[in-house]
Amino acid sequence: MAVIADRCPQIQVTVVDLNADRIAAWNSSDLSRLPVYEPGLDAVVGRCRGRNLFFSTEVERGIAEADMVFLSVNTPTKTKGLGAGQASDLRWVEASARSVAAYAQGHTIVVEKSTLPVRTAAAVQAILQAAQGKTAASDESKSFSVLSNPEFLAEGTAVADLERPDRVLIGGEDSAAIEALASIYAHWVPDERILRTNLWSSELSKLTANAFLAQRISSINSIAAFCESTGADVREVARAIGMDSRIGPKFLQAGPGFGGSCFQKDILNLVYLCRHYGLDEVAAYWQSVVDLNTWQQHRIARLVVNNLFGTVTGKRLAVLGFAFKADTNDTREAPAIRICRDLLEEGAELAIYDPKVAPDQMVRDLGLAASSAGPGLSGEGCWQASASVAEAVQGADAALILTEWQAFRALPWPQLAQQMRQPAWVFDARAVVDPEVVRSAGLRLWRVGDGSVNQRTGNG
Ligand code: UDX
Repeated sequence: MAVIADRCPQIQVTVVDLNADRIAAWNSSDLSRLPVYEPGLDAVVGRCRGRNLFFSTEVERGIAEADMVFLSVNTPTKTKGLGAGQASDLRWVEASARSVAAYAQGHTIVVEKSTLPVRTAAAVQAILQAAQGKTAASDESKSFSVLSNPEFLAEGTAVADLERPDRVLIGGEDSAAIEALASIYAHWVPDERILRTNLWSSELSKLTANAFLAQRISSINSIAAFCESTGADVREVARAIGMDSRIGPKFLQAGPGFGGSCFQKDILNLVYLCRHYGLDEVAAYWQSVVDLNTWQQHRIARLVVNNLFGTVTGKRLAVLGFAFKADTNDTREAPAIRICRDLLEEGAELAIYDPKVAPDQMVRDLGLAASSAGPGLSGEGCWQASASVAEAVQGADAALILTEWQAFRALPWPQLAQQMRQPAWVFDARAVVDPEVVRSAGLRLWRVGDGSVNQRTGNG
């Protein structure tokens, strides 16, 4: 919405939310305190806020005044009831559709921006239709058009992705409404990149795009494990296959598995829908993409334990990076969560450093309060947040790199090694360190997918 406001100064954009703290944070005069950390977003908000971008808790008024309403609420995986663990929880979508039905005036275009299961638009349409024709306060008869306009931005590059999208997808049945939305994007997106489809294709395209991207990561991670066993290097393999123009070079980075708010949720949703339609083999196929991802995370935790003489009980391990990827403070489904939990289960003492993730977020994710008293050999794992890499590695037996923060690419390993308990390890799950620098600092190294490095160090 901030980027739309930036690119279309003549359009007034009002972001409304029931959460007053959130809205207050978006209105904060200190732009470094916006609720979402996203490179370049502070500048965009700084330019537009108060001009044609407003943040407000006046939901009713925001809807009543709008010609177009974007439903951008969250759709997490259901935790209980029918479809628990797989289906999307649509309660907020439905509640906001009901608010729109109640407060809208005149003709309103309703745009599904949240990622939704296929055919959700039908539910939104049914709720809106029930209100159609009723007169609003203005005496104008209400009417609605529903569009699907899924968002493909990735976190950390959100502003750049929005400013130069590969494509914008608009699904719907009402061509006037489609063109109204297309004309907004036309302020900065070339028309050949604005695709028009039917509603269901648009909804399914978003799930499919995320499923394909996640599948590439599971595919390369499966090959990474194979490389480690055979002496091949997954980066060399990725480069060789990526030069095939049919495969392409992107999304072939082996690592600790995918995290983030979308991939797992969307695939599980796809699996649920496939089962619903009796497509069990299709469901099993996509489920295996998630299963391999989970396996990769357990595998990394396991190999840390194995290399540290089969036990991490009472050992201090530095965890470098907690966010699900670099340049974000988001930890949803972060691989670090599962890996840290496994190591805590083994009785380790974790010293976790992330440049952007707040310690109270780590408490929520690990489901365990921080504790500075070392666990000793009691077998009870514990953790603390560290303020720097140097503090985290102090006295540690190993450093695990779980997020590819730029700062981790050029760490002063000779100095850090001196602070660690020998023989000390670097487990590089993102392949960001220079193996020569680490080895010449006297450290042992495991690098994801690198059979040559791992076999030279004598581990597997
Ligand atoms: C993703 C999609 O890219 C985006 O189009 C969609 O709108 C939302 O979901 P996002 O979750 O922000 O975006 O991050 P993305 O860059 O796709 O990375 C997802 C996860 O995959 C991260 O944990 C990342 O570290 C991992 N990843 C990505 C890899 O392990 N290897 C890769 O080669 C690429």
